[in-house]
Amino acid sequence: MSNKLTETKDFLKMQIGTYCNRIKKKKIPSLDNLQSSYLLSMKKSSKAQGNKMHDSAKAYSPLLLKIYDLYVLGASNYFIWKCPTTKLVDLFRAHTTNNHIDIGVGTGYFLAKVKFKTPHPRIVLCDINPNSLQYASKRIAKKNPQQLVHNILEPFEQDREPKFDSISINYLLHCLPGSIKDKAAVVIDNCLSILNPGGVIFGSTLLQGSTKRSKRAQKLMNFYNSKGVFSNADDHYEDLEAVLKKRFARYEIKRVGCCALFVGYK
Ligand SMILES: C[S@@+](CC[C@H](N)C(=O)[O-])C[C@H]1O[C@@H](n2cnc3c(N)ncnc32)[C@H](O)[C@@H]1O
Repeated sequence: MSNKLTETKDFLKMQIGTYCNRIKKKKIPSLDNLQSSYLLSMKKSSKAQGNKMHDSAKAYSPLLLKIYDLYVLGASNYFIWKCPTTKLVDLFRAHTTNNHIDIGVGTGYFLAKVKFKTPHPRIVLCDINPNSLQYASKRIAKKNPQQLVHNILEPFEQDREPKFDSISINYLLHCLPGSIKDKAAVVIDNCLSILNPGGVIFGSTLLQGSTKRSKRAQKLMNFYNSKGVFSNADDHYEDLEAVLKKRFARYEIKRVGCCALFVGYK
């Protein structure tokens, strides 16, 4: 085994050990307790936002965003979706350029982890929900991001300039209504309209169909689907790949746990 692999294994063991010890000492809540708090705040925020947005977006209240990193990125990704957040950080680090737009920003966690090659990158944060935009903007305030309120299922203004060299759409597709065949096609076409030649679109999404998932993962996906927070019941790996294949001469897609990580090169 290579040194790097051994180091990573030891690091993960240490992290999980610390997490378990802290649960025992009741310093942090268990996965079940975290899940209950997350679901409760999701219910509250959906009610508070009324009918202004689809359920997949209105769940993101300031309260939910405060626990998103710990519950979704810290616990769910590792224990339930079996796609450690480090894999997604690697994806962002590999493909984010100094002229980037992040669509469906959540808490801005991933852009905060990117080391930009210039002190003044051009970063645009795009989301339908102003709560997410404010939260993420504050987090990466030093990078001076611009904010854009936009529904990614709608086209961008035709003369939107300058275009971008990279676009991230992480954990966005599984939230959007419809089957992946249709929504991925619409989202990627909208993204392509604001991408420079030679640019890249990347992200990840949670899938069902032929993608293996534990009973716990299936139960949670069913629950999120029943609340409209996820719409991935009809999201198949093969359909996502077909959308990418049709649009990009060069693309990459792979599964990690319940998640597909993808990159398309224009
Ligand atoms: C699951 S979070 C993903 C956050 C972040 N990208 C991550 O990977 O942690 C989904 C985000 O997409 C936004 N969103 C949902 N529907 C959207 C839409 N139609 N257009 C733009 N953003 C949307 C939500 O407001 C939320 O901020």
